[in-house]
Amino acid sequence: VAIRLEDYAPAPYRISKLFLDVKLAPQATVVTAELHIERGNATKAGTPLELDGDGLELEGVQIDGFPADPAAITATPDKLVLHSPPADPFVLTIRTRVNPEANTQLMGLYRSSGTYCTQCEAEGFRRITYFLDRPDILSVYTTRIEARKSDAPILLGNGNPSEAGDIPGTDRHYAIWHDPFPKPSYLFALVGGDLAAVRDTFTTSSGRSVDLAIYVEHGRENWCDWAMDSLKRSMRWDEETFGLEYDLDVFNIVAVSDFNMGAMENKGLNIFNDKYVLADPQTATDQDYANVEAVIAHEYFHNWTGNRITCRDWFQLCLKEGLTVFRDQEFSSDMRSRPVKRISDVRLLKAHQFPEDAGPLAHPVRPRTYREINNFYTATVYEKGAEVVRMLKTLLGPDSFRAGMDLYFQRHDGEATTIEAFLACFAEAAGTDLDQFALWYEQAGTPLIKVDCTYSEENQELRLTLSQSIPPLPGQDETDPNVIPVRFGLLGEDGKDMDLVPTPASDVSGDMMVLKQRTQTFTLQNVQARPVLSLLRRFSAPVRLDFDQSKQDLLFLAQRDSDPFNRWQATQTLATRELIRLAGDARQDKALLPDVKLVDAFGETISDTTLDPAFRAQTLDLPSEADIARDLGKDVDPDAIHAARQALRKAIGLQHHSALIGAAQLDGEAFSPDAAAAGQRAFANRALSLLAVADEPGTAELLKTRFDMATNMTDRISALLMLVHNGLHGSEAALAAFLNRFQDTSLAMDKWFMVQATAPKEDAFDRITALTAHPLFDKTNPNRLRSLVQSFATGNPTQFSHASGRGFDFVADMVLEIDNRNPQVASRLLTSFRSWRALEENRAALAKQALLRISAEDDLSRDTRDIVDRCLQ
Ligand code: ARG
Ligand code: ZN
Repeated sequence: VAIRLEDYAPAPYRISKLFLDVKLAPQATVVTAELHIERGNATKAGTPLELDGDGLELEGVQIDGFPADPAAITATPDKLVLHSPPADPFVLTIRTRVNPEANTQLMGLYRSSGTYCTQCEAEGFRRITYFLDRPDILSVYTTRIEARKSDAPILLGNGNPSEAGDIPGTDRHYAIWHDPFPKPSYLFALVGGDLAAVRDTFTTSSGRSVDLAIYVEHGRENWCDWAMDSLKRSMRWDEETFGLEYDLDVFNIVAVSDFNMGAMENKGLNIFNDKYVLADPQTATDQDYANVEAVIAHEYFHNWTGNRITCRDWFQLCLKEGLTVFRDQEFSSDMRSRPVKRISDVRLLKAHQFPEDAGPLAHPVRPRTYREINNFYTATVYEKGAEVVRMLKTLLGPDSFRAGMDLYFQRHDGEATTIEAFLACFAEAAGTDLDQFALWYEQAGTPLIKVDCTYSEENQELRLTLSQSIPPLPGQDETDPNVIPVRFGLLGEDGKDMDLVPTPASDVSGDMMVLKQRTQTFTLQNVQARPVLSLLRRFSAPVRLDFDQSKQDLLFLAQRDSDPFNRWQATQTLATRELIRLAGDARQDKALLPDVKLVDAFGETISDTTLDPAFRAQTLDLPSEADIARDLGKDVDPDAIHAARQALRKAIGLQHHSALIGAAQLDGEAFSPDAAAAGQRAFANRALSLLAVADEPGTAELLKTRFDMATNMTDRISALLMLVHNGLHGSEAALAAFLNRFQDTSLAMDKWFMVQATAPKEDAFDRITALTAHPLFDKTNPNRLRSLVQSFATGNPTQFSHASGRGFDFVADMVLEIDNRNPQVASRLLTSFRSWRALEENRAALAKQALLRISAEDDLSRDTRDIVDRCLQ
């Protein structure tokens, strides 16, 4: 059944307070919940109360302390109904029994390596007790946790610790936690286990001291420094940037190794996938360090955007996620290079969100309907949602944006609210109307802007005509025009930005054209000579451009644009065009002869030491095969794209061989995870990767040495990847050495599986099937499954979309195998089929067959059923 936004109605009852008593035991945890319930103002006395459950075993129900009359209730594993509840406020006491050990879905209360932990967002709380499990029910929680001391010496809950002690005459103990801030059930959490703590303190701007702790498995204490440092920097940043202070006496983070997603912002008790906490130079790459920093910040920032102010219903998910991603991106930009961070965020957006928005899984940033909410934790809600908030700031300016945020916190603190209420704060603070802007939340699809540019020497005038449209999508034929901020510049012959003198009628503010109509012309005056147009600087809107800019202009931008983002973009655009041309030639079995001018241009990037190495690394990183497939949009032949990309990389590697050898040198300094040092490594390794494709004599030896002598995981894994992906001599020995060294470190072993799963080789398939039988492959661990199967499906286009169909079949089999034990992981894996219609017809037919085979199973989870139906619709 579909849930629809328009059907939203407040619940007939409120639950003001909740006392939970949880007696932890591996197979029979007993949960006693005492719900303080009040009738809503508009609710007639005697209106039935329906509580959500999911697979619960009910042991008893009391109303105001007396056992409920069995005739007055109906209980199933998935529902508890009180047919005629008392008219006045009453206390409902519910005892349920759950089995954490048998919980393979990893939703609700489960065990990870012996630790009891919870995941309640979106609808996991109903797997612990019966409740109004919806985000607009805000309650004050007190949690008493009890366990055997030897099983779980550490007992953690939301809020502040209030009492703890032994239970005399037993081997058990308890802890009581009280969270004074009313919250929805999805933010509930508890943890019980034998964990080590790394502690620190933070003094807030108003002088309150907060005890910080990160809990990990024993022996991993030394891997928490970076996460702790990131946490303290996040806390300070939110005070300085938004005036937001932390509000409890303690802030706890727990790292577990079995987790469906990245991390979870439970109030005062964040629970993390350990890959976003643990970082050590030997086992984590620079990307891992950056991810830890970003995810720690993200979850911390949710304390205000998500927890203090939460969502009225799950359609509003982007209210907390889009906004919080925007906040974590801003934080990382302040900690690192802002332009490089922008480039990598846009890469991510284009790699994940654009294809989602162009295929059968497209949906608005605020969806209007869903069958399974877990399928809407998407790149659209998160990344496009962040872009929409960024555009708000771009359009209103930093001061009005900040005033709108302030008003939002002031007005909605303690509430569960909506996108409309959020936008109203900005409209009011800026004295403007955001009705048209709200369309960004309503319409799916990536707007395409067609650009026409004419220069009149006679009038010294530049006329820019921009037309916007959104290609039709399933269930969305017609769309209305969006408000699109198009930041731009005009480069003179000297490469400098000209002054912008718009005609009064043009909607240009500062360096920004504000496109509001379907077609609009912007006129610039006093333009002395034909300028080179730099459009969509800093990627000021999540759109695609259809602009036939000359190669010469793009080369000029690549070298001279004052906006680093657009310098990078110009190179990407040139490379994309060339790769599309080469892919066409590859399909016709023509010789692949990359454009010499373009190959030369890369030489400038390699040797321009005035540029930030991290930026140079981004420039040398050609558009991915998936990027090219997405830009083609139809009749995609992954083999042709692969051949094209290899040909261009090889030409660059050969042409600039000696410069690349120089660039590939490492500086030999002691490891530091900071952005500058990471940028050096990224550049050196990117240079090396081009050499690896060129494969001149001595390359395999060079890579083998780099692998053997590496002082950190970034250098080691990139050498391994280049050896394996290029099928170079020594790759087997390197794989064996890596296995031998890291077999007990699961996060490092995930990388070992990933490198092999993404090798673009004919033998990749046999290798992957063999790896599913490897003793270290464990399909019950989401990280391990993703490292082998998901990375194959999303990171190995030639082999996943293999012309034989075997790649599709392999992934389809895996989806079916996992679906009944962990539907969330299965349905996420299945989304890797989302662009199947864009494939050339033979491959598309094979992908469809695999999807139909999945669809034919009649006991699919709701999660997987939803994705397969939408993929086939
Ligand atoms: N709120 C979490 C975060 O983004 C993610 C929770 C994902 N939950 C889910 N059911 N997929 O920080
Ligand atoms: Zn989040």
